[in-house]
Amino acid sequence: MHASHNPSESWKRYGSHFVIEDAPDGKLPDEMMDPVAAMRIIADDLVLDGIPERNLATFVTTWMEPEAQRIIAENLHRNFIDHAEYPQTAEIEQRCIRMLADLFNAPGETTGARTQGSSEAIMLGALSLKWKWRQRREATGKDTTRPNLVFGGDVHVVWDKFCRYFDVEPRIVPLQPHKFTIGPEDVAPHVDENTIGVAAVLGTTFTGHADDIVGIDKLLRELRDEKGLDVPLHIDAASGGFVWPFLYPDSAWDFRLEQVRSINVSGHKFGMVYPGIGWLIFREQADLAEDLVFYENYLGKTDATFTLNFSTGSAMVLAQYYNFIRLGREGYGLAIGAMAANAHYLGERLQEIGPFELVGAGEEQLPLAAFKLADPDLPYDEFDIAWQVAAERGWMLPAYTMPPNAEHVKMLRALVKLNLTRPLVATLADDIAAACETLAKKGGASKAERQQVKTGVGY
Ligand SMILES: Cc1ncc(COP(=O)(O)O)c(C=O)c1O
Repeated sequence: MHASHNPSESWKRYGSHFVIEDAPDGKLPDEMMDPVAAMRIIADDLVLDGIPERNLATFVTTWMEPEAQRIIAENLHRNFIDHAEYPQTAEIEQRCIRMLADLFNAPGETTGARTQGSSEAIMLGALSLKWKWRQRREATGKDTTRPNLVFGGDVHVVWDKFCRYFDVEPRIVPLQPHKFTIGPEDVAPHVDENTIGVAAVLGTTFTGHADDIVGIDKLLRELRDEKGLDVPLHIDAASGGFVWPFLYPDSAWDFRLEQVRSINVSGHKFGMVYPGIGWLIFREQADLAEDLVFYENYLGKTDATFTLNFSTGSAMVLAQYYNFIRLGREGYGLAIGAMAANAHYLGERLQEIGPFELVGAGEEQLPLAAFKLADPDLPYDEFDIAWQVAAERGWMLPAYTMPPNAEHVKMLRALVKLNLTRPLVATLADDIAAACETLAKKGGASKAERQQVKTGVGY
């Protein structure tokens, strides 16, 4: 009846002998396998991952149009660094840089770079701050051994990383128990002649608000005019750079402010491109330290590169350009406006549900709901809610504590991206209400459940 008595052989012919065997792990397999079998092993593994559309922690794009997906799929083999071979791709990068410089109100001709994300953009931007500071110091014969960088506790971890990797003293302004952003009064005591720059955030990872950028710019202009201390301001607009121009066009945070010398933005966040694209934009060409640009003869053409990587994909650059020309200001305004309206709706629903306090609602903010429990006497906390809503409905809702000196504050935060349509927001609100009811009945999450809660702000 059966042609083979070896089940493994039968499963091989069926297309996947891994139905009854372990997947390769820890050592390159000795033999080949069918492409279908390899594909299925990976697909099966990924079934155990969370569903990206239910990931309320991430700022990163989880949905793009089919036409954009086609551009991406058709250009996966195009190495971005081969400028000589792919001059149009290089030109499209420059178009994106010019469009962003214009969006951020650069006063004239400028320069910038495509990066892997805001982290690489921040590393490069901060390196330029360090190099420019050293040039200024050397020109006047001053000590260059103790550079420092001033930023708030509300920044992303990449700023600490830069300081450690590139040997710069981090001067971190602590948050306050009821204030989760920083302003000029917080920054002023930390700035001195060794300060390479101040970093301010537009749309913090923790609550989605902005530092007082207008105030910090004013402080730095006063220092420049009164004490001759020219300290540049870098804006970490990883998330906010594609939000503020459309939701709050009259709010100045960009090159409209004189001391703002460079800005990073993540194309893969509210630029609405899949992961793998960020941008660094300088105010003027002179803000990029010339020593950081490498001119090399690569495959017959002199190329100028300012990047931490070399080979990388072109697909996301092309996808960014697709979004720019497909959406324009009208489309971005529509999409970001819809996210903000849905975030507002979620906030209203949360307040109906129960004892939730929205953090900084009514202030300029990213499209998200940052909220916490207003009643300290409940038998459950924010971490329990994150657990219960994941257990009941698979939502990935991050719970975390704030950075020092607000570390006693627990927070929940739901990003409202374009894929979170109104019916889904309504369902999410119902699901949070149901999770709270369960927790009230059972008196909070059990110890074992609490141990499994994933904490962290996500990104
Ligand atoms: C304010 C801020 N800066 C920097 C980053 C790092 O950005 P990327 O993930 O694009 O490297 C993030 C990520 O969430 C962020 O929120």
